[in-house]
Amino acid sequence: MTDRRDFLKLGGVAAAGVALASVAGAQTSRPVAADSPASHSEAMKALIPGAVDEAGSYVLPPLKYGYDALEPHIDAQTMRLHHDKHHAGYVKGLIGAEEKLAEMRASGDFAGIDYWSRKSAFHGAGHFLHCVFWDSMGSGGGGAPTGALAKCIERDFGGFEAFKAQFSAASKGVEGSGWGILAYQIAGAKLVIQQAMNHQLLTQWGLVPVLCVDVWEHAYYLHYQNQRAAYVDAWWNTVDWNRVGERFGMLEAG
Ligand SMILES: [Fe+2]
Repeated sequence: MTDRRDFLKLGGVAAAGVALASVAGAQTSRPVAADSPASHSEAMKALIPGAVDEAGSYVLPPLKYGYDALEPHIDAQTMRLHHDKHHAGYVKGLIGAEEKLAEMRASGDFAGIDYWSRKSAFHGAGHFLHCVFWDSMGSGGGGAPTGALAKCIERDFGGFEAFKAQFSAASKGVEGSGWGILAYQIAGAKLVIQQAMNHQLLTQWGLVPVLCVDVWEHAYYLHYQNQRAAYVDAWWNTVDWNRVGERFGMLEAG
């Protein structure tokens, strides 16, 4: 057992999970837990950066860099379409799904519950993962993590190269559209790699994404065509490990 697995810190991370659940369920009210100070809620919201505005409404966060900032690894046209059209579509879809669920609650008619529940999961997961995806990249990226994140990767995967090999294989091997995701597992206070289909399938509960790579064709097809593996290999050069380390630090601190 490491010091990160002690009771106090696990309790803190569990509280983070509660706050994130509030973010996921937010529609019109701010996702602030009743017994949490506003600063704590703001810190939890920062884990999925820019997903909601000050009023708690889902929004498309602006990129923190230019469309061409990740070239030559990810081209500007792909970035523009991906962010402005595809991600925007997930935000619109999530808002629409929650509006439909609210209408059902108001009317008491839940005939469409299966459809709109699925839409909420699909668009919600898509929105949140894209927020982490954009935030985890930047110009001059690449290299390897340092500090606490590097130590945790060493502990949980046996080293950075072993982690990178598993993450790459998982990302390249996704059946159809999906994601490779490095996530913090709340239950075990450790890092795990997940291989999500679409945005929301095949992942555990109780995970917070720390780093993810989008392997939907819309993320790479204009430049890489069917060469997903080449895209994933190039994507490593865009990873902003300082930012990823900051996100990990929020979780580790609980
Ligand atoms: Fe995408």
